[in-house]
Amino acid sequence: MKRLLVSSIAALATLSNALVRFQCSQLVIERLDPLVNPGMVPSAHVHQIVGGNSFNATMDPKKDMPGESTCTTCSFAEDFSNYWTAVLYFKARNGTYKRVPQTSQIQGAQGGITVYYMQDALYDQQQKSKVTAFKPVRRPHTLQSPPFFFFFFLLFILLLILLLPFPSRQRTGKRTNGLKPKLPTQGFRMFTGNVAARTKAEMAQFRQLTYTCMDNTGTREPETLELPARPCAAGIMVNARFPTCWDGVNLDAPDHMAHMAYPASGTFESGGPCPASHPMRMPQVLFEVVWDTRQFNNKADWPADESQPFVWSFGDGTGYGNHADYVFGWKGDALQRLMDDACVVNCPNAHATTQSTAAMNRCAKQKTVTEDIDGWLMSLPGM
Ligand SMILES: *[C@@H]1O[C@H](CO)[C@@H](O)[C@H](O)[C@H]1NC(C)=O
Ligand SMILES: *[C@@H]1O[C@H](CO)[C@@H](O)[C@H](O)[C@H]1NC(C)=O
Repeated sequence: MKRLLVSSIAALATLSNALVRFQCSQLVIERLDPLVNPGMVPSAHVHQIVGGNSFNATMDPKKDMPGESTCTTCSFAEDFSNYWTAVLYFKARNGTYKRVPQTSQIQGAQGGITVYYMQDALYDQQQKSKVTAFKPVRRPHTLQSPPFFFFFFLLFILLLILLLPFPSRQRTGKRTNGLKPKLPTQGFRMFTGNVAARTKAEMAQFRQLTYTCMDNTGTREPETLELPARPCAAGIMVNARFPTCWDGVNLDAPDHMAHMAYPASGTFESGGPCPASHPMRMPQVLFEVVWDTRQFNNKADWPADESQPFVWSFGDGTGYGNHADYVFGWKGDALQRLMDDACVVNCPNAHATTQSTAAMNRCAKQKTVTEDIDGWLMSLPGM
């Protein structure tokens, strides 16, 4: 499968929808995981987190994430979502661990994650398929603008006046269905991967969690399911693609996965249809994380048996336990507006507010967990 370099898809033909790619600088690196270990301080293993600064160990799903945050590390200023992954460590020949730093793919940004939302495959320059953006928290008080509120208030009064003489007919009509009596009270969240997987078979259902051994900053293939076996001159890129079919009802699930599914046949890239159980086609979310392994590429420091020395913060040296977390936090309908724009990659003319790289980098967060995660460590934090 061909995966084009981003620079080569910048020149566009007749786009009808968006493929957005943007950088989110690091917010914090520590042991917190509000999705899998809610309320647990510290959580099981170290994560690197980007996005809105309201991120914490509990993250009440009933709260309006954009309302809780005062800044975001993402270049789209209305994206207060949180995106996170585990952290990569180098295990030296003497058995000690050192955290591998990240590089940003956007000059000036600090580490973090490059995030994509796409309607169609990454190499598709048309991006014609319609998708439904993830749902924001729906609460009446999020209607902040007074003119809008006034408008809806007037509409409500008008409807009341119109409906009063014909209550029985209207109550059973289509209008009631359209009003969705059970409004969602949670923001959308999802997880992908199996932390416990250590074999190809155990991760087989997560077919889009991969690694790219980068010989230079433009290397995008091949993608492997296991950590690269050789030194990668420009670092290791982790690619995490989330499933794209939503059940249309649940904003989360006990395992944070059951409300999402892969296409019933084919793939997202081939335009495969969603299964009947999960009929809503969503944008594909892709994280690219570049681990700067350059200072660890001396083979003399690698294990004597020549096996590769990198290990995830949860103790996985195979790479099959690769996983990623997503908590939706776009303000209002900002994501849907963006996806409905005809643009690709940077979307300079999109109906979206962006911020400077300096502003992204300024949005930092104090660590909650005080422990050494950066020295030469005898063991992985929490392991
Ligand atoms: C964590 O964030 C939630 C909002 O999601 C907030 O209600 C709560 O007070 C925060 N907790 C702490 C300890 O900051
Ligand atoms: C282990 O090896 C690393 C890298 O060679 C070195 O920096 C570190 O000091 C060593 N630690 C011990 C305890 O020997």
